[in-house]
Amino acid sequence: MKGKDFKIIIPRRELQKKIKELGKRISEDYSGKEPILIGILKGSFIFLADLIRVIKVPHEVDFMAVASYGQEIEGSGVVKLIKDLNINIEGKDVIIIEDIVDTGLTLNFIKKNLLLRNPRSLEIAALLDRKERRKVQMHLKYVGFTVPNEFVVGYGLDLAERYRNLPYIAKIEGSKLAQRRFEL
Ligand code: IMP
Repeated sequence: MKGKDFKIIIPRRELQKKIKELGKRISEDYSGKEPILIGILKGSFIFLADLIRVIKVPHEVDFMAVASYGQEIEGSGVVKLIKDLNINIEGKDVIIIEDIVDTGLTLNFIKKNLLLRNPRSLEIAALLDRKERRKVQMHLKYVGFTVPNEFVVGYGLDLAERYRNLPYIAKIEGSKLAQRRFEL
């Protein structure tokens, strides 16, 4: 992108290879079942699109969107639901598909919300895991890559709604906005 210095930290080929592995594991683990994959908008949509094309078991897809509860308390873990599921997940095997787990606050909210609906099982697949900043511990059954303590973009992940289209995961060198966003 013009005027920006992107440093690729996970190239396209590595992403594709890892997603194939995750798809294979999910297909084995859910053999004979029909899981519901829930993509958390917006960041997960590219990961989800590639993942379902390497999953061999029949499955359904739905989406949820959440937002932090206003600027002033961003990072506080107060999250609101802005788009709910269309599918009833009671008694179903559910896999949450997330782009990146950072503090874990967002996923903690989503997990609690979904558990109230009594799914048969609930697991998490995250493309990226930034363990160092975790505030809420949780088990991530499927993880693509552990990423360092820096803001990343691409492959669905944005900075102020941009760069989701990059086919790799990158950090932006010298971006004050990325730095600010990361410190929240
Ligand atoms: P958490 O609640 O702190 O775990 O944050 C999770 C959400 O914050 C992710 O689903 C992303 O939407 C966003 N996020 C966290 N880190 C990054 C990043 O490095 N780049 C882009 N989005 C991020």
